[in-house]
Amino acid sequence: MSSNRALLLEARAKLAATSETPQLDAEVLLAHVLGVERVQIIADAARTASMDEVAQYLRLIDRRSNSEPVAYLTGEREFYGRKFSVSPSVLIPRPDTELLVDLAVQYLETIAAPRILELATGSGCIAISVALELHDREVQSDILASDISPDALRVAERNAAKLGASSLVRFLESDWFKTISKSRFDCILINPPYVERDATLATDLSFEPAGALFADDNGLSELRLLIQESPDWLLPGGKLFLECGAGQWDVLKADSELFLPYRSRAHKDLQGYDRVIECELLHPNHRS
Ligand SMILES: C[S@@+](CC[C@H](N)C(=O)[O-])C[C@H]1O[C@@H](n2cnc3c(N)ncnc32)[C@H](O)[C@@H]1O
Repeated sequence: MSSNRALLLEARAKLAATSETPQLDAEVLLAHVLGVERVQIIADAARTASMDEVAQYLRLIDRRSNSEPVAYLTGEREFYGRKFSVSPSVLIPRPDTELLVDLAVQYLETIAAPRILELATGSGCIAISVALELHDREVQSDILASDISPDALRVAERNAAKLGASSLVRFLESDWFKTISKSRFDCILINPPYVERDATLATDLSFEPAGALFADDNGLSELRLLIQESPDWLLPGGKLFLECGAGQWDVLKADSELFLPYRSRAHKDLQGYDRVIECELLHPNHRS
């Protein structure tokens, strides 16, 4: 028989070698196994777990000690205040991406009945968060979210159903714009793959889908392509919000031709990196 306290001590010691957050990981995984909130684990430090619970917990700790991300072990990750289901078919939503949602909502709540396209939806975290935030503000929106991966789309659809957004977001399989029927949007949102292929990465990342992470040309190939193609899908005055990696905005903006159709700037994340590129499509008579 093991108490919560004893289980946590044992798990923390085992995870210390491979995790930067051994205590947190140990608590989150124990809360998952016991089906309670994390705060309760500490409050019930003397509670004894059943043999099945202990066995299940030790299996998860073993997997975590091999660097498998906690979110894949619990099957969920919080994003923008909501719990999204995740599987190894989708990128685990990152806190940095919440900036893109903030910017999109600020812009879209000023538009009556905005038409929105999200490419590379993955778990659906961006489209679903934007849809629910706009719904809460009584803004009626039309959101189409797509991804090249059918497995990712299944996860996104499940999340939309679980979070009450099925009637707000439509999903479509598409290689970038290829199967999006020809139309123009007020806003395009994209968090594309932008990690350079030979980057040295934390071991955890090897569990995430390569197609969600890596891009050619030092990670810039998809960003460039999407900046080039988006003007054909935006209404004049419409905006593209695009997440990028640290340092990539500086490289991209040096190519002034790339941004000719737009007025563009970047927004910094909490660590001070230029993280979201905002491109407003100029009206045709503004272009020279
Ligand atoms: C960085 S993840 C973003 C996932 C999610 N939007 C998020 O922010 O957590 C990139 C996504 O792009 C998708 N993707 C990669 N290549 C694509 C392509 N050619 N067309 C559409 N989606 C693509 C991947 O399947 C993956 O889901």
